[in-house]
Formats: sequence, structure tokens, C-alpha cells
Amino acid sequence: MGVKPSSRGCFGWFVVAVILALVIGAIVYTIKKKTEKSEGPAPIPGPPGAIDKKYADALKIATQFFDIQKSGKLVDNKISWRGDSALKDGSEAKLDLSKGMYDAGDHMKFGLPMAFTATVLSWTILEYGDQMDVVNQLEPAQDSLKWITDYLINAHPEENVLYVQVGDPKTDHGCWDRPEVMKEKRPLTQVNASFPGTDVAAETAAAMASASLVFKANSAYSSTLLKHAKELFTFADKYRGLYSESIPEVATYYNSTGYGDELLWAASWLYHATGDKSYLQYATGQNGKLFAQWGSPTWFSWDNKLAGAQVLLSRLTFFGDKDTSNTGLQMYRKTAEAVMCGLIPDSPTATKSRTDGGLIWVSEWNALQHPIASAFLASLYSDYMLSSGTAKLSCNGDSYKPSDLRKFAKSQADYVLGKNPMKTSFLVGYGEKYPQYVHHRGASIPADATTGCKDGWTWLERKEPNPNEATGALLGGPFLNETFVDDRNNSMQAEPSTYNSAIIVGLLSGLVTTSSTVHSFT
Ligand SMILES: *[C@@H]1O[C@H](CO)[C@@H](O)[C@H](O)[C@H]1NC(C)=O
Ligand SMILES: *[C@@H]1O[C@H](CO)[C@@H](O)[C@H](O)[C@H]1NC(C)=O
Ligand SMILES: *[C@@H]1O[C@H](CO)[C@@H](O)[C@H](O)[C@H]1NC(C)=O
Ligand SMILES: *[C@@H]1O[C@H](CO)[C@@H](O)[C@H](O)[C@H]1NC(C)=O
Repeated sequence: MGVKPSSRGCFGWFVVAVILALVIGAIVYTIKKKTEKSEGPAPIPGPPGAIDKKYADALKIATQFFDIQKSGKLVDNKISWRGDSALKDGSEAKLDLSKGMYDAGDHMKFGLPMAFTATVLSWTILEYGDQMDVVNQLEPAQDSLKWITDYLINAHPEENVLYVQVGDPKTDHGCWDRPEVMKEKRPLTQVNASFPGTDVAAETAAAMASASLVFKANSAYSSTLLKHAKELFTFADKYRGLYSESIPEVATYYNSTGYGDELLWAASWLYHATGDKSYLQYATGQNGKLFAQWGSPTWFSWDNKLAGAQVLLSRLTFFGDKDTSNTGLQMYRKTAEAVMCGLIPDSPTATKSRTDGGLIWVSEWNALQHPIASAFLASLYSDYMLSSGTAKLSCNGDSYKPSDLRKFAKSQADYVLGKNPMKTSFLVGYGEKYPQYVHHRGASIPADATTGCKDGWTWLERKEPNPNEATGALLGGPFLNETFVDDRNNSMQAEPSTYNSAIIVGLLSGLVTTSSTVHSFT
């Protein structure tokens, strides 16, 4: 026990009860932390350590993008140029799919990346809720998470049916309009027992299992999430198949290259949420051998969760019962170590996938996704080491400290925030210079302009910067040669995505201040 973001900032109705819970929570938390500190075998910094203003400022900006991406009837809307939209989403199946978040600069609701967004946001809150709270970002993050999980609950109306898409990408991409005025048809797409989607169903299970921990204080909501998570995992496991084979149209946008990673990731989250050993056995036994690619580092992304599962499960080897007889678990830890060794720039096994300026660089589209995801994992791993008193990480004989991992994590964040050859921040609203031509429909059209689907394209083509600032948008990022073209039609580099925002929020939350991580989420 320790940080329980769910015990502070809950969504209860009774203000007094909430305040009481906050006060008691804080006291328990302080006592607990003190105890942990004196028991800890190695000195643990904080909490709260000194707040790093740079990362705190950036975090406060990054969390705002979720408000920009919200669909449905807005509550306490803070974005002057946003309003209600997509209120009828889901109605053709008599479901309310009006909430959730738009994927990027468009108005699609894509289930795979949206669920991944929720899982990463939950993980961030569970690990770094205390640090987010210090800078008042815990409640906004919980609110954004709930906006997605409310949608996911409705998207799963039957055990073996999950709606994985709202909107037709071809139709949607044929328009340039504000979400508030869109009139395009918003068809629904589902996976089911005949047309399975193991990947998307398992990712949704992971999102709901992890969120059930975040919202533990709201026990009815938390149990609902857990119930869906368990059912979805069973559905995913029993009816195996790639959703992009069941529904070939999705492959153009979010093609899934495998589902084994999501099954392991979901089982890992379900184990954390339930303590039921069968989920741990699932991940560490035969399925682990089959799918986990033990020993081979991979990149953590919306498509591939293996590195995430490795880090999440290795947390058990740092803080759990240290059951060394579970060789599968040890293999996850070893693979997580290999991932970390690949990231530290001067390690013997350092990856060469970097720009000259030191940014991890793997893909031309949305280039920043891999460096920030790697840095987020490095921040977590370095905190696991610190909090468990693990002094060293060995990489082919050379040894590294937690601070080496943290230094790497900071280097990637600093690059994103402006310390790069282009001298530009890629986080809109942060720094002296940041992109002005974000590929984002809502940001590019004034709120009082009247456009339809087609005549809105003139707003894409205009020479002037966006009339609305997409504050908190994290852009795709630079080419390998460290150039960036700030052009509204440059969706390869200048388009933000909601899942990238979850990852940068995770990374910045880890860097805001130093503190120990909790030993258990429950
Ligand atoms: C199952 O999903 C497929 C693919 O989305 C869809 O075409 C089919 O209509 C669904 N089956 C039922 C019974 O709705
Ligand atoms: C989608 O991924 C599968 C599996 O990796 C691959 O065979 C296929 O070519 C990909 N499709 C597209 C459109 O990228
Ligand atoms: C940098 O790389 C991009 C993409 O490969 C290319 O289009 C551009 O011309 C390059 N710029 C320079 C200055 O080399
Ligand atoms: C924007 O980019 C798309 C795809 O690259 C291209 O087809 C289109 O002509 C471009 N539009 C403008 C106005 O440059």
C-alpha cells in the first residue's frame, strides 16, 4: 500500500466525505511513506522531492490536450473553441457511444489506440499519482481517463461483442470540419465471435483492469470495470484473431501486427487488479513462451505492448514475493533489463536507432512515439530500482545506476521540449517556439466559422497559423535528419495523437519530482 490515487480525488458525490478521505488518505500516506523510507535498504528520495518546474509546467500543458479531444456532451468545458459533438454516436445500435476521444486531428474513434491511451493513463496514475497531485494534475488525468472508460463500458454491450470503431475513416478523412458541426454518417464497427479481434479486446481488457485500480474508491464503478475486463479477456483469448484480419479496412490506420502481446499485457493487468494467480500463470507459462519474445528487446507502442508487459511484470520481482521459482517471471525481468540496456546511450548493447542529437528514432510517421514511450519505461524502471534499493543494472558486464536511466528519460523529454537542433518544442503551448500549423481540424477552423464537410478544406489550405491553439498537442516530430516542416498538411510530422499524449503525460509525471514508487497497486 502507499500511493492510492483512487483514495484521493475520487468521483464521489459527497464533498465532505471526499475531503475527509483526502485528509485521512494524506495522513495514512505520509505515515506509510515514512515507514517505507526507514525500512528501505537504500536511500529513497522524496516524496515530495523538489519540483522540477520545467517538467511541472510541461505536464500542466500536456494534460490539456485530452480536453480538446473529448467527444460527447462536455462537462466543465475549459476549451473556448470546443463544444458538444457526436451526441448520437452509437445510436444505430441503441448505445451511447458519445463519449470517448477523437484519435488525432480527425474525428475518428479508433478502439485500439483509444484503449491503449486509457491503459497508459491508468498506469501513470497508479505509479505517479502522488507526483501528479503535487502539481494538481491528478484529478484532470482521472477525469480524462474516466471519459474514455465510460465509453469503453458502453462499447461492450455483450460478452462477445465489442465496438471498436465509430465513424468511417474514408468518409471522415474526406471532410475538413469542426467536430461540433460534422454531419457525416458515423457507422459502428464491432468484433464478435465470428469476426474476432483478440488484440483490441485484450487491450480494452487491460485498460479496464488498470482503470479498476485507479477508481478503487468508487467501488461500484471499479467492479463494473473489472467485470468487463474479465469478460473481454476471456472473449479475446477464446476467439483468437487479428482485428485487422476480421475487418481489413482498419489495417490502413491502426494495423495490428500481433495479438500475443495484448494477451500477455491484459493478463498482467488482470493479475495486478485481482491478485488471481491464474492470470500470472497465463502470462508466465505457456503463453509467455509462445508470445513474450523473452530475451529480445522490442519498442513499446500502441501496436506492441511486450516491453510494457515486461516492465509491469518485472515490478513483481522488485516488490512482490520475489518468487524466484517462477522462471517465466524472471524471463520478463531479464527482458526488461535488455530493453533498458538498449536505451542507455553508452551501454554495450545500446540501440543505434537514434538521431545525431540523441533522440530515439524508429519511424518516420509519428516519430516521437518511440522515444517518449521508451523514456516513460526507463523512468519507471529507474524508480523501481530506487524504491527497491536495487543499485545496479548490468549490461553485458558494464553496470549502470538508476540515475543513468533517469538521465536517458530526461534527455528524451528535454529534446521534445526544445533542446534539439531545430530549437523547437514539439509540445504545443510549451516553450518559446512551438509549431503553429498543427494538423488538427478543430484547431484550424474558427469556432464561429460555418463550414460543411467540403468547404472546410479552405481552412487546411490557408497560409495563416491555426486560429485556435491545440494546447498540449504533442506532434509527430522530426525526421531522422532532425528537420521538421511546420505545415498543416504535413500529417506525418505535424499531427498530434491522443495516445502520444498519454505517454508524454506519463513521462512528465515521472520527471516532475522524485519519489519512491508504490510496492503494490492494491
Ligand atoms: C460481427 O462482426 C462483423 C465484423 O465487424 C460484422 O460484419 C457482423 O455483422 C457481426 N455479426 C453480427 C451478428 O452482428
Ligand atoms: C498489417 O500487419 C500484418 C501482420 O504484420 C501484415 O501482414 C500486413 O501487411 C499489414 N497490413 C498493412 C496494410 O500494413
Ligand atoms: C531530411 O529528411 C527528409 C525525409 O527523409 C527529406 O525529405 C529532407 O529533404 C531531408 N532534409 C535535409 C536537409 O536533408
Ligand atoms: C495535402 O496532402 C495530401 C496527401 O499528402 C495531398 O493529397 C493533398 O493534395 C495536399 N493538399 C494540399 C492543399 O496541399
